[in-house]
Amino acid sequence: MNAEQIKKLVGEMTLEEKAGLCSGNDFWHTKAVERLGISDVMVSDGPHGLRKQDQEADHLGVNESIKAVCFPAGCGAATSFNRELIGKMGQALGNQCQAEGVSVILGPAVNIKRSPLCGRNFEYYSEDPYLATEIATAHINGVQSKHVGTSIKHFMANNQETRRMTVDAVMDERALREIYLAAFEGAVKNAKPWTIMTSYNRVNGEYVGENKEILTDLVRNDWGFDGIYVSDWGAVNNRVRALQAGLDLEMPASAGHRDAQIRKAVQDGVLSEQVLDETCERILNVIYRYLDHIDEQAVFDLEADHNLARQIAQECIVLLKNEDDILPLTKNQNVAFIGKYAQKPRYQGGGSSHINSALITSALDAVKEAGIENVTFAQGFDDKVDAVDEALEAEAIQVASKAEVAVVFAGLPDLFESEGFDREHMRMPECQNHLIDEILKVQPNTIVVLHNGSPIEMPWVNEVKGIVEAYLGGDAVGGAVVDILFGDVNPSAKLAETFPYQLEDNPSYLTGFGCKDTVHYAEGIFVGYRYYDKKNMAVMFPFGHGLSYTTFEYSNLKVDQKDIKDNEKVTVCVDVTNTGKVAGKEVVQLYVADKESTAIRPLKELKGFEKISLNPGETKTVTFVLEQRAFAYYEPEIQDWYVESGAFEIMIGKSVEDIVLSEEIVVTGTKKIPVVYTPNTIMSEIPDCPEAKEILKPFDSQDGMGGAELDEDSATAEAITKEMSEAMAKYTPLRAMITFSDGNISPELIDDMVEKLNALETE
Ligand code: BGC
Repeated sequence: MNAEQIKKLVGEMTLEEKAGLCSGNDFWHTKAVERLGISDVMVSDGPHGLRKQDQEADHLGVNESIKAVCFPAGCGAATSFNRELIGKMGQALGNQCQAEGVSVILGPAVNIKRSPLCGRNFEYYSEDPYLATEIATAHINGVQSKHVGTSIKHFMANNQETRRMTVDAVMDERALREIYLAAFEGAVKNAKPWTIMTSYNRVNGEYVGENKEILTDLVRNDWGFDGIYVSDWGAVNNRVRALQAGLDLEMPASAGHRDAQIRKAVQDGVLSEQVLDETCERILNVIYRYLDHIDEQAVFDLEADHNLARQIAQECIVLLKNEDDILPLTKNQNVAFIGKYAQKPRYQGGGSSHINSALITSALDAVKEAGIENVTFAQGFDDKVDAVDEALEAEAIQVASKAEVAVVFAGLPDLFESEGFDREHMRMPECQNHLIDEILKVQPNTIVVLHNGSPIEMPWVNEVKGIVEAYLGGDAVGGAVVDILFGDVNPSAKLAETFPYQLEDNPSYLTGFGCKDTVHYAEGIFVGYRYYDKKNMAVMFPFGHGLSYTTFEYSNLKVDQKDIKDNEKVTVCVDVTNTGKVAGKEVVQLYVADKESTAIRPLKELKGFEKISLNPGETKTVTFVLEQRAFAYYEPEIQDWYVESGAFEIMIGKSVEDIVLSEEIVVTGTKKIPVVYTPNTIMSEIPDCPEAKEILKPFDSQDGMGGAELDEDSATAEAITKEMSEAMAKYTPLRAMITFSDGNISPELIDDMVEKLNALETE
């Protein structure tokens, strides 16, 4: 249906029908307008599997949904650094939706991991907005290639579960633009999601769903968003204000209350009917994107998609540590699998993303399937309570001591990590740490496999020989872990977030989740590695870190231009060689640093990555093209992205801490920050040019701050050297010379200087 037909249709709708279209009919469906042949459509969670509820509906994953496939959650998907693979996952999800009659699958979730404790971190991608943008783009493009919509969420700054429906996230403009809006901006521009889900919380005093400046002026008008806003379930505060701001569809149903409010607002002249008409046009536009392309042939193949989930999970598992090359294991080694999660993997988090998996592959199932016979098992702990179960522990110690290698499957239980609440600390259950300590006493060859959605403290990090971060890797994760452990697959994932040693090291620690209904993002843009890197703080595992069973060498870093304007592009090439004995994939990471910035900036920021596959001895050239945004920061003074002229370093790294090659280039900014001089302008901000010197000439003969020469032997010279005086003068405003010139400089003279300086600027 085209725009004109939709306009006509809206023209035929009654006020009641139009008001009705703006909220759900029930938990998951829009309202049909049968009279006009407009059918309802269904939406479902997301993001990493289809949670389609047929019967009893809820938004917290309580009631049963159809049997489906759980892919790796966002925390894992991002570590793959693999756009193509996440695109495949998106396509599979889109196809499942077509088969099940679902028009929009709610996700991806791109909120930045501000604190390791956010209960929903497992659903989120990263602490870095560029990585989140790229993975979200791949996910959205994949789903939408099947004519099924996505709902990028939770827009925006929904970085905690504590008081999530009322909390006000207060932050500065740079943090807002560079960190918390950036992934949404990138994905909206690159992939055009059909819908954006507005979050529950407020930002800088206003509910996001009522913020016209953000919803309409910025996202719709500036970024070119052409879909609809859908409220998070129950997120609407004031329906009429939300409509005026641009929030289209309220979900779920509102038992008719909101329809009545909308009708009344139109009748009372508070809400223009045109706003309502435009909202309905937008909603119908999205509904028909699906209805016009229903794929009757689509089939949800549970087994095929479970296999795909395993393939994806293989690339999401990060090998954090591999001392003495303890991994990969050989298939005839005597290996003890210890821990409940070897039998029952924790593969997904709690809440609205919870999938009713048709098939689950545990690591124990996978070894059996692969015919690996020398694997023993002991449960070791129970994850329902955090207390050492002495019998289970004793059995585990026994089993571990008899093997050549012990692999402990540990992690965070459901009750530690879910939608709806945040974690209280960054530790694993004490009973699991205790078990690992006890195993280490009898088995020096101990490996830990982790199932968790965000960083944990690892008191045993130096003692164990191997650490495999499997995240919440979906319902095939057990198979993927076995593929990695025994070397059928070479690990290639990289951390999408920093693992600090302890919670106290995290930049959000001091303000945490706030006080009452306000949380101050006092760390500003210094989130994740941007903070640790600048502080030069040792971390347990840095952003971008991940080991392989082979080795890679980097050479021949080349930039095609050494001196560019910010509206030009620079092409960067680097050669990567597999110098080891097995094939493998490497994530080539590109970071950019502004070497001479006057603005406060991180030491370096991720601005490019490519994942490549290399056979032993093979070399490939990886190419990146960097544009303006790679060098820019958001400058509040001009309300725009701004490149400050000067030297920039382009760095290639194996992680944010392991930079292997770098090249410097000069970038000249083409945007100007307008300068307005006032009597309060400080001396060092006056341009260093002959014209300005001439204007300030009357100061030369004054012996005030930074003024005339001092007699070397005078008491003044002893108290304050010429250098000190000059340094102080740097921060002296023009008007201070009225005081420090023994009456020689008048206020009128200062005004005159200011006027001349301003004239100089506009010349
Ligand atoms: C969650 C959303 C989810 C929605 C529908 C809300 O509680 O925040 O992520 O899509 O419920 O289940």
